[in-house]
This record gives sequence, structure tokens and C-alpha cells, in this order.
Amino acid sequence: MTKRLAAWIVGASVALGNVGHAEASETFWDWFFSVKRMKEVAPVNDAAYNEECGSCHFPYQPGFLPAASWQKLLDAKALADHFGDSAELDETTRKHLLEFAVANSAEKSYYKRARKVIASLKKGDAPLRITDVPYIKDKHGKLPAQDVKDNPKVKSLSYCNKCHLKAEEATFDDDTVAIPGKGPWSW
Ligand code: HEC
Ligand code: HEC
Repeated sequence: MTKRLAAWIVGASVALGNVGHAEASETFWDWFFSVKRMKEVAPVNDAAYNEECGSCHFPYQPGFLPAASWQKLLDAKALADHFGDSAELDETTRKHLLEFAVANSAEKSYYKRARKVIASLKKGDAPLRITDVPYIKDKHGKLPAQDVKDNPKVKSLSYCNKCHLKAEEATFDDDTVAIPGKGPWSW
């Protein structure tokens, strides 16, 4: 085993331990070879995050943005004017959510879509929107406005779960997509 691979595995084991999304009976290798890890993004396993960040929109998986983005988004001042809304939190909750998001951010994740997010960004880029990440932007680039912002049942690309029927389970595969008012997705 190369040194690099060994370091990767140790890193991934630590990440797995920290994140705690593995079932008690799941071994590191079960996780390593799981379809979810190879194809998707890590599911959210934090009740406070789901509650506080899931009331106005779907609670975005932290693996869709780098740590620096979460630091900007979850800054106390920034939350007071969060895309025109107030998403203020008490300090204990804010710090907890920040810690959770940073620990599960794209560069700390070994899930496929998180790796793609990082690969598509330039070093130091910290977009405030997942929909501004090149990987995500490209995936939706060909969708006509009538399916997205001009679709009264969607309103904007930010509402992932309107079209991604299994977004809450962290499944974004294109065979789990349906455009509201139009039906299951196909080109
Ligand atoms: C009071 C309502 C509200 C709450 C609570 C809230 N948000 Fe938002 N959030 C918004 C609005 C509005 C937008 C912009 C949506 C749009 O452009 O259509 C947004 C957008 C976002 C985006 C960018 C989505 C994109 O377009 O890619 C992220 C990331 C985000 N919120 C994270 C969070 C996190 C993390 C929390 C929990 C601390 C949170 N939000 C809580 C209202 C809220
Ligand atoms: C208007 C409906 C709609 C919304 C809203 C939407 N998507 Fe999508 N998404 C699609 C469609 C349709 C595809 C498939 C595009 C293709 O195959 O070329 C897709 C593809 C994807 C893919 C790639 C799937 C694959 O199998 O390669 C990812 C990842 C993704 N979306 C994430 C998101 C995230 C994250 C959000 C919210 C920030 C979001 N999407 C919002 C319709 C939507």
C-alpha cells in the first residue's frame, strides 16, 4: 500500500468516526464500498441543522460547499441578512451548526459529489450559493427557465427538493428527478 493511500484511508476512517453517519454495525470497508459514498453526498445527521436550516428551504448537505463558504454563511452578521431574510440564531446553536457544516464540508468529505464540487472550484473560491458552484451550475445549465424560475411550483434552482425527489436522503441521481407540473425527468 502506498503511503498516500494509507493516509487517505486513515483520514477517511477519522472522517467516518467524526461524522458518525455509519450504522453501528457498518465497518469502514462497508462504508468505503457503499454505493452512496461512491455516487452521492453525505446525508445530514444533525437534528439541529435539519430544524434550523430546513424551515425555509431544504437543509442543504454541507458536502455541496467548501468550508470557507460555510464560514461566511454561518457568520453571525451574515445570518442577520441571509439572502434578504433573517436567519439569526443563538450563539450556542450558531457555533454548533458552523462546526457541523465545516466538519462535513466538501473538502473534508470522501463522497463523490463533494469531490466533484471541489474539483470544479478554483483554489480559494468560496461561493455563497451551491447553485454558483460550477459542477452544480453545469448540471442544470440546459434546463429552460420555464422549468425552473418561471415554474411557479419551483421558483428557483435553490429549491433542490422540488425536483430531486430524494434530496432529503442525499440522493441526487438523475433518475430520481421530476420537474413539478411536467413529470419524471428525461432528455
Ligand atoms: C428565514 C428563512 C431561512 C432560514 C431559516 C435559512 N435560510 Fe438559507 N436561504 C433563504 C433564502 C430566502 C435563500 C435564497 C433562496 C433563493 O435564492 O431562491 C437561502 C439560500 C441559502 C443558500 C444558497 C442556496 C443556493 O442558491 O445555492 C444556502 C447555502 C443556505 N441558504 C444555507 C442556509 C443554512 C445553512 C441555514 C441554517 C443556518 C439557512 N440557510 C437557514 C432563507 C433561509
Ligand atoms: C427545476 C428542477 C431542479 C432543481 C430545483 C434542482 N435540480 Fe438538480 N437536476 C435537475 C435535473 C433535471 C438534473 C439532470 C440533468 C442532466 O441529467 O443533465 C439535475 C441534476 C443534478 C445533479 C447531477 C445528478 C447526476 O446524476 O449526475 C446534482 C448533483 C444536482 N442536480 C443537485 C442539485 C442541487 C444540490 C440542487 C439545489 C441547490 C438542485 N439540484 C436543484 C433538476 C433540478
